[in-house]
Amino acid sequence: MPGDHEPITCPFDYSEALEFDPALADLMRRGSPARIRLPYGDADAWLITGFESVKQVTTDQRLSRAGIIGLDYPRMTAEPIVSPESINVMDPPHSSRVRHLASQAFTQQHVDGMRQRIVRLADQLLDEMEQEGPPADLVRHLSDPLPQHTVLDLLGIERQEWPRIQESLHQLLVVGADNKKTAATAKADLTAYFGKLVEQRRTSPGSDLISAMAAARDGEEQLDDRELAVMTLMLALSGQDTATCQISDIVYLLLTRPELMEHLRRRPETLTDVLHEMLRYIPFRKGVGIPRVALEDMELDGVRIRAGDFVHVSYLTANRDPERYPNPHAIELDRPNSPHMTFGWGGHRCIAMPLAMAELEVAIGRLVERFPGLRLAVPPEELQWDTRTIRRFPLELPVAW
Ligand code: HEM
Repeated sequence: MPGDHEPITCPFDYSEALEFDPALADLMRRGSPARIRLPYGDADAWLITGFESVKQVTTDQRLSRAGIIGLDYPRMTAEPIVSPESINVMDPPHSSRVRHLASQAFTQQHVDGMRQRIVRLADQLLDEMEQEGPPADLVRHLSDPLPQHTVLDLLGIERQEWPRIQESLHQLLVVGADNKKTAATAKADLTAYFGKLVEQRRTSPGSDLISAMAAARDGEEQLDDRELAVMTLMLALSGQDTATCQISDIVYLLLTRPELMEHLRRRPETLTDVLHEMLRYIPFRKGVGIPRVALEDMELDGVRIRAGDFVHVSYLTANRDPERYPNPHAIELDRPNSPHMTFGWGGHRCIAMPLAMAELEVAIGRLVERFPGLRLAVPPEELQWDTRTIRRFPLELPVAW
C-alpha cells in the first residue's frame, strides 16, 4: 500500500454505467490532498477532494492555470485539449476581462431569445424520431444533434461546414497516445477556420454569438481577433459534448429509475430542481480536468504544497461530499437547494451555464411531455458505455413509446 505521499496510479478509465468510480471513492476516503499519477504528463499531482477544499483551491490566486502553459502537466489525454490562449488557462486579471466580455453574449436576454430557437430545434428532432417510429436511438435523434445544432447555429456557422467542424472537434477529445498528431492537426485547422470567421463578422456582423462577443465592450476594452477566434473554438468545443452526455445520462436515469420519471410527469414545474439534483449526482466525466500550479509554497488541508507543484480538483467528489449533501450517493428530489459543482467553481466556472440549463430544460421537458410512454427498448445491461473519451455516456439509447 502506498505511503502517505506516495503517488497513487489513477487511470480513471472506469466506465460502468453511471456508477461512481471506485478509484475516486477510495481517494475520498483517504482524504485530501492525495498524491496521484495520471496517464499523461511528466509529473505527479495533488488531488483535492471535498466541497470546501475544492472551493478554496478554485478561488485561491496563489494557484495558477496560466502557470501550466508549456509544461507537460499531469492530465487525462495525450494531447492537451486546451490551447495556450484558451480562457481556461488564463489567470486574473486577463481571464476576468475575457470572461466578462464573452459572457455578455450569454445574458438572460440573449438566452431567452435562444430558448425559442432551441425549442424549435428540439421539436424538429423529436418530430423526426416520431416519424421514424420505435425503436429509435435517442442519442442519434436528440442528445447528439441538439447541442451541436444549437451551438453551431448560435455561432452562425454555415450548415455545409458542420460535418467537418464536428469531426475536428471530436478528435480533440479522443483519449490515447496514437491520436496525438491527429488532435494537433484538428486544433490547428479549427483555429484557422474560426480566425477567418471572426474577420468576416467584424466586417459584416449578424445576430450570432461571435458578433455579440465582438460587440461586447467594457469601457475601452474589447476582445481582439485572436481572443475571439480562440473563444469561438472554446464555445464550439465546450458547448457540445458536455450537454450531449448530460442529456443521455439524464434520460438513462429517468428510464431506469421509474420513480424519477413519475415525479417529473406529476410535477413538471419541478423540472429545473430535478435536473440540478441529477446533475449533482451524474459522474459525467472521467477523472479530472485542468490542473493549477502553485506559485508559492503553501499549505492545503494541512499538507505542505511546494511552489511548482500541480494541483487538480475533483468536482465529482465535491458533489458527493457527505458534509454538504447528507446521503450523497442517493438522488433525493426533496434535497434542500444548494449549488453543486457540475459547472465548476470559482474563476473558471462555466460561462454558459444559463444556455446549458436552457438546453437541458428544453430537451428533457419536451421529451417527457411528448412521449408519455417512453421506455428503454433493450435491457439496461445491454447498453454500451463510452470507453474512448474523457466523458461518461451510453453510446446508444434505444427507446420505444
Ligand atoms: C450541461 C452542459 C455543461 C456542463 C456540465 C458544463 C460544465 C463545465 C465545466 C465543469 C467547466 C470547467 C470548469 C473549470 O475549468 O474549473 C466549464 C467551463 C466552460 N464551459 Fe461549460 N458546461 C456545459 C455547457 C456549456 C456550453 C453549452 C457552453 C458554450 C456554448 C460552455 C462553455 C464553457 C466555457 C467557455 C468554459 C470555460 C470557462 C473558463 O475556463 O473560464 N459550457 N463548463
